[in-house]
Amino acid sequence: MKAIIYTKYGPPEVLKMAELAKPVPKDKEVLVRVRATTVTVADYRIRSFDIPKSFYIPARLALGITGPRRQVLGAELAGEVESVGGNVTKFKTGDRVFASTLVGFGGYAEYKCIHEKGPIAIMPGNLSYEEAAAIPVGACTALNYLRQCEIKRGDKVLVYGASSSVGTYAIQLAKYFGAEVTGVCSGANIDLVRSLGADKVLDYTKPGFYDQLEKYDIFFVAIDKIPFAVCREHLAENGFYANITLIMKSPAMMFASNVRFTKGGSPGEKAEELNELRDLVEAGHLKVLVDRKYKFDDIVEAHRYVGTGRKKGNVVVTV
Ligand SMILES: NC(=O)c1ccc[n+]([C@@H]2O[C@H](COP(=O)([O-])OP(=O)(O)OC[C@H]3O[C@@H](n4cnc5c(N)ncnc54)[C@H](OP(=O)(O)O)[C@@H]3O)[C@@H](O)[C@H]2O)c1
Repeated sequence: MKAIIYTKYGPPEVLKMAELAKPVPKDKEVLVRVRATTVTVADYRIRSFDIPKSFYIPARLALGITGPRRQVLGAELAGEVESVGGNVTKFKTGDRVFASTLVGFGGYAEYKCIHEKGPIAIMPGNLSYEEAAAIPVGACTALNYLRQCEIKRGDKVLVYGASSSVGTYAIQLAKYFGAEVTGVCSGANIDLVRSLGADKVLDYTKPGFYDQLEKYDIFFVAIDKIPFAVCREHLAENGFYANITLIMKSPAMMFASNVRFTKGGSPGEKAEELNELRDLVEAGHLKVLVDRKYKFDDIVEAHRYVGTGRKKGNVVVTV
């Protein structure tokens, strides 16, 4: 099968097309013929080894010291089930599925085996493979963090980085849960964020942006470019600070009173969440924002674009 591999950390050009053996599903695995995958920030970071200095050693140990241990990136995918292992009961040949492959990666290939109890589900019937592939990582993260914040009808929620992948889903999900939602993005993305349902949209590039902030029950930080002190000042009593990129609390966070924090790191996508998201998409409550679509051969270009940090929603790759 064709796959995009990388054998050393580095710029987008380390990604190369290669021929690998087609995997064979084990007893409880399904073999997916991948039709679409994405370039997430995780793919970009791991490929370039753009990791915070304090995590350099643990990350190197986990990912490979001299070079990547797993050579196929791709954190999410959509495709059809080509065959199933002898003891699979949840899926059958021909099912159209979407899945997170964030644990172990492997979406940048024509085929991928996934355990039937893993983060895989029947994809929304009204979406293309490209759209479905762009759901698992961003939308599960938004859903999971909003749940950790115990979101409820009437909450005031601010989403900082509203045009990012996670941000576009957080805006829509917060609205679905009945919150009053403010999105923060640059001027170029105001119409886009409003079209996702945000009640108010603030432009972080405008002078006096901080003065426009009100008090929020949930401060959802999708892009970690707003100081904690500012969020703290604009959080309601016992409000939630949900920073999806936070790995370790700063001293100011450790001593902050009347603030609740979400757990750091990746919550890990689950099949139940994918099922829930599929139902929301099919019912028209959730849209998938595809910024750019690339061919498998053009994945280097796709990585270059994601590296600019300016993508709106998701970047997908047809396999
Ligand atoms: N915890 C988890 O499980 C988890 C899961 C997924 C992602 N993440 C992390 O979450 C972060 C976001 O990922 P993503 O894929 O959603 O991001 P992304 O789509 O790559 O974000 C790009 C967007 O960020 C906006 N942006 C850039 N600078 C900004 C600023 N100063 N203020 C506000 N917005 C700004 C850009 O809009 P403009 O061009 O208009 O500024 C652009 O639309 C990444 O660090 C990723 O590693 C964590």
